[in-house]
Amino acid sequence: MCGIAGYLGKRKASPILLDAVRRLEYRGYDSVGIATLHEQRLSVRKAVGNVEEVDKKLHFAEMPGNVGIAHTRWATTGKVTDENAHPHLSNNGKIAVVHNGIIENYQELKGFLQKNGYTLKSQTDTEVIPNLIEHHMKRKSLKQAFLETLRQLEGTFSIVALDEGSGTILGARHNSPLVLGLARDGTYIASDVSPFIEATKKAVLLEDDEAVILDNKLEILNFRTGKPVRKKIFLMHWNYEQAKKGDYEHFMMKEIDEQGSTIKKAVQQDAKLMKKAVSMVKKAFGVFLVGCGTSYHACVSASYVFSHIAKKHVNVVLASEFENHREFLTNKTLLIALSQSGETADVLEAVRIAKDKGVKIIAITNVVSSTLTQLADETIMMNCGPEICVLSTKSYTAQLAILTALVYGLAGKLEAGKKLVLQAAAKVPDIIRDSTPKIKALASKIKDSRSIFLIGRDMAYPSALEGALKIKEVSYIHAEGFAGGELKHGTIALIEDNVPVIVLATEHTKKEILANAMEVKARGGYIIGINSRQDDVYDYFIEVPEAGMANPILMIIPIQILAYYLAIERNLDPDKPRNLAKSVTVK
Ligand code: G6P
Repeated sequence: MCGIAGYLGKRKASPILLDAVRRLEYRGYDSVGIATLHEQRLSVRKAVGNVEEVDKKLHFAEMPGNVGIAHTRWATTGKVTDENAHPHLSNNGKIAVVHNGIIENYQELKGFLQKNGYTLKSQTDTEVIPNLIEHHMKRKSLKQAFLETLRQLEGTFSIVALDEGSGTILGARHNSPLVLGLARDGTYIASDVSPFIEATKKAVLLEDDEAVILDNKLEILNFRTGKPVRKKIFLMHWNYEQAKKGDYEHFMMKEIDEQGSTIKKAVQQDAKLMKKAVSMVKKAFGVFLVGCGTSYHACVSASYVFSHIAKKHVNVVLASEFENHREFLTNKTLLIALSQSGETADVLEAVRIAKDKGVKIIAITNVVSSTLTQLADETIMMNCGPEICVLSTKSYTAQLAILTALVYGLAGKLEAGKKLVLQAAAKVPDIIRDSTPKIKALASKIKDSRSIFLIGRDMAYPSALEGALKIKEVSYIHAEGFAGGELKHGTIALIEDNVPVIVLATEHTKKEILANAMEVKARGGYIIGINSRQDDVYDYFIEVPEAGMANPILMIIPIQILAYYLAIERNLDPDKPRNLAKSVTVK
């Protein structure tokens, strides 16, 4: 994972780069570092900690120079130490490199470098890169040495390097994201557009195997062939306001609150595009839905709508397990790939496996410039604006909105599907307003629980899975979601006095799920009902109106709020849960 950035221009680079790593911090926050060039000397500051912690110690913005590179790390190869923090330098100290991804053949490359007299000081895979560039520069120009190095690397990478001698910035990508921002004051390069959305709307989206050489001019070429590539300028629509917290204390609450409008935006898709997508599903012989984490839960949830409304069987597969389904793919298969970021490595891998077999791809994503959009045949944008909190909230409900409409479209009822989702969206602000005080009180009551269980049947089952994920990732309380009938096949052994069990009940499933709730209550469980109607079995009740096939869109909202307040009660930062990153660009 990790976030990388570079800048070359008229302004002082270090404050720009500090701001860049702040915005890219959702990609990892184990350590931070910046390198700048001033009076032909590279200087590097880096240390363990998140951006604010490290900046307090190292005062990044003091670093002089109009060119520099920066990194915020989510550790993969090598522990979280100052030494392993990026940027990494070549042995002669003249090349600095930041990297996102994994170099799979780094041991072999390390051996090669050691044989040639190089010393590698860190435990990272990245450190081989500046040293290979240094090595090749003994016989070649900087550009050729960079290209030669890139051709030796196996794995996934986006790289930004800085050369002391010439002040050149070099960049490249292979299965990890990298974009350029062309501003009046200079050129930006970064893992995503957020570091430069205020400075310019003009971006260049790099594709796999493209390299950038940036000095007083900008050259883009394919590093395998060495041939120049012509790129289009992409005009961005996101604005910086959307990526700011405003009056909110945390992005998580801001993004939960935005759902009233983001669900609406997600469902108001171009009619032609929706028709095209519907016809692709209709024509397909074998439909797969893939995603990871929350996006996977959206796939599971949608599979129930496929079944109830369109009577269509779909295969829902975790993207990381998709390769085991390779044998079932033909050129008639359709893959619907869900990913907020459009950069999740497992999703991209699933798409590539499918494409190899001639499978058609529909992407549902939130990031226009993402790799997933480049690989897909058709892309449906979630249109919910930047999601900054590591936890997915508004992107989940946007995915549900799109898939619900798509399935209704499949049944010839696109408008009815849209109407259903819009009616649900209209209820979101009231649900948030009315339930928040009760949820805050509940969070304070159950904040010290060892475990929280969630049960639901039918479409409320995936909501239970997603609810458990929200609670555990932000509060660190163990949480598990179950199908109502399943808890008693083992896990009920964990129910004792006062263990909280959240029961997600809908009109359609009420009879059976309430019977399951009774079974738990009989063993001392503390029953929290999320339902349109009160019931005697509930010890605590949170009202959510009935919305039929749009129930999952509404049911998740009180649980997102509960997860948020559990984190607050436990003095945790909801926007940056430990060990997580928003965009997981390694397998
Ligand atoms: C990470 C995040 C999750 C997210 C998952 C999939 O694990 O922490 O919140 O659901 O990636 O992300 P994607 O961008 O593919 O939807």
